[in-house]
Amino acid sequence: MDAERSIGMRLWGAWPWLRRGPGFRERTVGHLAGQVLEIGFGYGDNLPHYRAASAVWAIEPDPDGFGEAARLARGVPFPVTLSRAVAEALPFADASFDTVVGTLVFCSVSAPLAALAEVRRVLRPNGTLHLFEHVRAPQPWLAWVQDRLSGPWKHWSGGCHVNRDTVGLLRAAGFSLQRFRSRLGGLVVEIQAGVKI
Ligand SMILES: C[S@@+](CC[C@H](N)C(=O)[O-])C[C@H]1O[C@@H](n2cnc3c(N)ncnc32)[C@H](O)[C@@H]1O
Repeated sequence: MDAERSIGMRLWGAWPWLRRGPGFRERTVGHLAGQVLEIGFGYGDNLPHYRAASAVWAIEPDPDGFGEAARLARGVPFPVTLSRAVAEALPFADASFDTVVGTLVFCSVSAPLAALAEVRRVLRPNGTLHLFEHVRAPQPWLAWVQDRLSGPWKHWSGGCHVNRDTVGLLRAAGFSLQRFRSRLGGLVVEIQAGVKI
């Protein structure tokens, strides 16, 4: 699985124009305040877009993007701590963060429910999770197409699940949606979620 993830990472690295994103990074992380944990930071492309964070801890299993992320971290006015880790086993104490964020990550995480349980564990009470993700289509015919594409897509993308029902997984993991916006006919979602009490 590490080799597959590594292929995915290199493919992602090869598309800097796509990585810069048409505005989604600013929308997703620009307003996040306090102590933030970013999951699967890739090449650190979100770092220049944080405007209100007091500190960012960022984890990523693949070492390929650490150099670029460290370079970007030197240009921001808040402390950034980069660590090698997976979302399924976060190396942080319970209730450590005000906010957790992930952009285009939960499609690739191998065990998303385990990762969401970890996110719950490290979030403080009233903390929030912010995601920008491509997801399973809400239209049954399109979800059917995604299901057929899923095997080859996962192989050729290096581990990305094109049909992943991230919204359903969030609910199953005990999160409630506080803000939800869908784009591209529901193929892409922007979410703020909190833990159900
Ligand atoms: C499409 S890239 C997105 C990177 C970055 N979040 C961005 O917006 O540019 C997917 C990222 O998820 C990471 N990833 C895959 N499985 C993961 C896991 N189990 N835990 C944390 N990150 C993971 C990959 O290594 C990769 O950096």
